[in-house]
Amino acid sequence: MSNERFYVTTPIYYVNASPHIGTAYTTLVCDVLARFKRLNGYDVKFLTGTDEHGQKIDQSAQKAGKDPQEFVDEVAEKFESLFKLMNISNDDFIRTTQDRHKKGAIDLWNRLEENGHIYLDKYSGWYSVRDESFYSEEELVEGKAPSGAEVEWIEEDSYFFNLSKWQDKLLEFYEENPDFVYPKYRFNEIINFVKSGLRDLSVSRVSFKWGIPVPQDDKHVIYVWLDALTNYMSALGYPETTDDMSKFWPADVHMVGKDITKFHAIYWPAFLMAAGIELPKQIVSHGWWLNEGEKISKSLGNVIDPAKLIDEFGLDQVRYYMMREISFGNDGSFSNSSFISRINSELSNKIGNLVQRTLSMIHKNCDQKIPGYSDSEISALYKKHDILKEASSLFNKIESRINQYQFHHALEDILLFVDQINIFVDHMAPWVLKKEDPKKMEEVLYVVLETVRYFSILLIPFIPDAAGKILDNIGVPKDERRFKFLDKEYYIKGRSIEKPVGIFPRFNEEKA
Ligand code: MSP
Repeated sequence: MSNERFYVTTPIYYVNASPHIGTAYTTLVCDVLARFKRLNGYDVKFLTGTDEHGQKIDQSAQKAGKDPQEFVDEVAEKFESLFKLMNISNDDFIRTTQDRHKKGAIDLWNRLEENGHIYLDKYSGWYSVRDESFYSEEELVEGKAPSGAEVEWIEEDSYFFNLSKWQDKLLEFYEENPDFVYPKYRFNEIINFVKSGLRDLSVSRVSFKWGIPVPQDDKHVIYVWLDALTNYMSALGYPETTDDMSKFWPADVHMVGKDITKFHAIYWPAFLMAAGIELPKQIVSHGWWLNEGEKISKSLGNVIDPAKLIDEFGLDQVRYYMMREISFGNDGSFSNSSFISRINSELSNKIGNLVQRTLSMIHKNCDQKIPGYSDSEISALYKKHDILKEASSLFNKIESRINQYQFHHALEDILLFVDQINIFVDHMAPWVLKKEDPKKMEEVLYVVLETVRYFSILLIPFIPDAAGKILDNIGVPKDERRFKFLDKEYYIKGRSIEKPVGIFPRFNEEKA
């Protein structure tokens, strides 16, 4: 536990189309991380937002027959409302069309220019509007971008950033910071890319207007990636030396999808070095969601709308599945059958049933009261029952999983613990004790509730509403729902309880 600071960011989302499961995922991962750190006593800043400039958005607005500002306002609103629906705990939402952001982007440009790293020339080469990225001839795969996106040949006046000069400095930095990119194999790809040679980067466009004008030369707009990356600082008040800037910069984690690792691990550090600004500590890169094994795309018509899933199955079911199904870092496939089977077997049968049957037995057999124990009795119970010792050691396990971005393993560990508790209940058979030894039955049920307290507090970052309901049911005060309280000192106090109601309904697997 500590008062350390933690600044985590999502990429800012292009507002050319509505959010989908992939964009929801990046934000959810950051939410889990941010909540975990807050519960662990950190002072957290969690930023998300939207990327609203550039040719792709300009074209989408034209297609929709709308003025670009009106268009981006509408789509940005969809992201904000989805994140609210998903119970995302972001502290701020930055939009690149906001003045506070434009100031930051312009200042970064000016610094790069003043430091002599920007020059005017002509760009001729390939460009992908979908990726908003320049590609060299050698990078193309069968005439397309490596991502499969169409490319077009462009020739236009352009300002350049002298990226090639930063190759050695970047490699030195990578060497000194072996954890800069997670996972390691993606870091190796980045290192190899940089080793193979960097070309200067075009950082302005003249063929459309939807962007931040280049200072002193408004024929040009700033390249959308240089504009967008600045959001991580402009949201903290950069270029002013605000409290937030001094407190939270450099960022601890920029969470990104694997497709945009290059922009964050090569361009962003190079811009920052050139501007004389501290570099973020880590770029964490996750894999992609597929739908039943296929890439998700509008043209395939297999886009998954998280809002619909939430509506049908419940928010925490969706949050749980997304964090549990994907082995973080790798791609994962969404499938209806695995979704239903996980929420039924893990949430409903394992966790839900355990809580429900324990509370029901207490309600029925213990006079509708959670038994009360004194401090010394509790110490004796902790000594006597191994399952409580296990409970006390769960936090360290989960913390180390989270620090290594092994979210799926963290959930797996919690489930294994729940299995152990279920075994304990079956073994102690409180329903048999009821007649033979009612005091012992009370004790067993109480011990189970204590273990429920532990894993429910640890589940808050993943499924905040459901975990909150369980903790309400067992009477854990709101201000004791932090990791600091995962200790016997804060044991559940005896009190009356209501008749328990189920938390996780079962869904029909056939229907899936
Ligand atoms: N605007 C840029 C990011 C600028 S950050 C300074 C961008 N936007 S995006 O909307 O295209 O993508 C945002 C994030 O969503 C990326 O991290 C991307 O990897 C992620 N995903 C988009 N589709 C995805 C899946 N199908 N699965 C998982 N994540 C994917 O890139």
